[in-house]
Amino acid sequence: MTRFAFIIHPLSTADVARKYPFARYLPDCLVEAAMARTPSKIVSEITGVRSPTGAETAGWFVGCPLSSRQLAEWPPERTIPRVIEAARVAEALGAEIVGLGAFTAIVGDGGREVAEAVEIGVTTGNSYTVATAVQGTLEAARLMEIDVSSATAAVLGATGSIGRVCAHLLADSVARIIVIGRREEALQTLLRELSGSRAEVIASTDTAASLPEAELVVTVTSALDTVVEPEMLRSGSVVCDVARPRDVSGRVARERDDVLVIEGGAVAIPGDVNFNFNFGFPPGTAYACMAETMILALEGMTEDYSIGKRLELERVRESSGLAVRHGFGLAGFRSFERTLSDEDINRIRQRASETANASA
Ligand SMILES: NC(=O)c1ccc[n+]([C@@H]2O[C@H](COP(=O)([O-])OP(=O)(O)OC[C@H]3O[C@@H](n4cnc5c(N)ncnc54)[C@H](OP(=O)(O)O)[C@@H]3O)[C@@H](O)[C@H]2O)c1
Repeated sequence: MTRFAFIIHPLSTADVARKYPFARYLPDCLVEAAMARTPSKIVSEITGVRSPTGAETAGWFVGCPLSSRQLAEWPPERTIPRVIEAARVAEALGAEIVGLGAFTAIVGDGGREVAEAVEIGVTTGNSYTVATAVQGTLEAARLMEIDVSSATAAVLGATGSIGRVCAHLLADSVARIIVIGRREEALQTLLRELSGSRAEVIASTDTAASLPEAELVVTVTSALDTVVEPEMLRSGSVVCDVARPRDVSGRVARERDDVLVIEGGAVAIPGDVNFNFNFGFPPGTAYACMAETMILALEGMTEDYSIGKRLELERVRESSGLAVRHGFGLAGFRSFERTLSDEDINRIRQRASETANASA
């Protein structure tokens, strides 16, 4: 059996307070200082992943105790050694492939520097994350009765690793796509890459002006704070929030009952998986990046996989095919940490159509 490990980290100090309740009474800087001095270690054992092919795998969560803020704002010479340390814990446990979760996948050129430092295979899990984000968005659009072929899509964080490939895939399905980023030059490069797509492609650095035009939104920035607010969204639109921490403000949940917000990348895991750790998902489900690591282990693929800032479309397609072969698939829709029922989605569609009728 090929074993895997997956590196997780607290998205914020609130995650630390869930495990150590006294931390809630301490200032963030004290909690982060304590985290910075704590070595990476095993968090739990993961058992029971079984593919319909008969292949099995098991592994570990390994904790890298740095927050998103520390991983995003500290210089690379402080963050990369800490992620390498966690990958070495995985290696010592006997994992042959290790996945990098959330912001541990962003430092060091999208996992490349970690991959160079360890003997085992490394993946960010971003290929299957892209596949599930796009699949989920298109399926949600179908449920909201959006005609995708004539729709406008927007990708926020389009110059990033995941955003760029999401834009490539959506540009083959929609009529118009707005790629939104912060760096004009990177946007122009993306525009050139996307010329020749089915969709008309527009680049923008103005999120507030561009999002209201889109019926489909994929948001996948590495911002520490939310970047999508209720007043930016079009009635009846679908917003797939792939980012962790999340991009979509909690105000959207409270103020926009006419917009379908889904979490990107919630995947059903085959077999009788036990994570022995609660990361906030229903039993038997995991993030797509975790799923990609398990899929590679089931397939016995222990070389580096989704690495670097330029993901290959071919790997997105391959990971999607391997997922089907091993019984992985979208685990329904979740929104703001809760599962959405068909009735919830019908209600949102109904509200959107009432809003459209009222403004007609
Ligand atoms: N749900 C899942 O299963 C899953 C799996 C993997 C990753 N993720 C999450 O996906 C997100 C992106 O990952 P990635 O690997 O694509 O990261 P990445 O390559 O670093 O790209 C992030 C993008 O976000 C943009 N950005 C950063 N801060 C921003 C801000 N304040 N406002 C607007 N744009 C901003 C960056 O712009 P510049 O190009 O200008 O820097 C970049 O284009 C992260 O939150 C990560 O945790 C989720």
